[in-house]
Amino acid sequence: MNLVLFGPPGVGKGTQGERFSSENGISHLAMGNILRAAVRDVTEAGKQAEAYMDAGKLVPDNVVVSMIEDRIVENATSGFLLDGFPRNLAQAEALDAMFARHHGLTLDKIVCMDAPENDLLKRLSGRLVCRACGFGFHRHYSPPREVGRCDRCGGKLYQREDDCEDVIANRLHIYRNQTAPVLAYYKDKPGFVRLDASGDMQVVYTALTEAVEG
Ligand code: AP5
Repeated sequence: MNLVLFGPPGVGKGTQGERFSSENGISHLAMGNILRAAVRDVTEAGKQAEAYMDAGKLVPDNVVVSMIEDRIVENATSGFLLDGFPRNLAQAEALDAMFARHHGLTLDKIVCMDAPENDLLKRLSGRLVCRACGFGFHRHYSPPREVGRCDRCGGKLYQREDDCEDVIANRLHIYRNQTAPVLAYYKDKPGFVRLDASGDMQVVYTALTEAVEG
């Protein structure tokens, strides 16, 4: 099974994508996580991406497309969930071109998550992430058992640099102007579904599994 989780910053793509992938034995290919690892490891791609990410802008297409294609090809037989890719029309077209190059690859579902902007702001401003394993928490909605420590691995929790007020505003602006228009590209394709992601995490997860099975 191959799917795309699409939606604005903070809607829960990472939270739901991680759980869905692990429960269904497919790979969670999260573009933001892949880029943050490249920045941390000071790779050539990471050096090119860092300033864009800090400002909440999209990293150039040529950088992200080649990074994601490698992962898609590696996971072609087991299945994958794309989170954070594609994010503009050029990336959506590049994804179709990849699938055409690698015969047999198809998208089974494109799930478009959405929630009111006020909820997105609360989710992003309270997010905490484990520096060691990348697992996500929220100060109020899913707090760790021990303050500042990851429940899974004991790693230290931190607030992402792009989760500050002005960068969040920029990311939402870019979503509205560059990413949301991709919906017009997908909305009439087979497998496209909309998902109300305004409920609590369990409610959204149940709706996601139903949407994928339906
Ligand atoms: P990326 O890391 O992908 O960030 P994003 O799309 O802005 O998405 P987020 O990770 O912020 O949100 P999410 O939807 O995953 O929410 P989460 O589950 O964590 O990208 C970062 C940057 O990388 C971009 O700005 C760009 O620079 C670059 N980049 C990435 N992809 C790119 C591409 N394709 N092209 C070019 N550049 C690219 O949830 C958020 C919080 O809310 C958490 O604390 C969580 O616990 C909580 N939460 C989740 N669900 C619920 C719920 N139902 N109720 C209450 N709280 C909830």
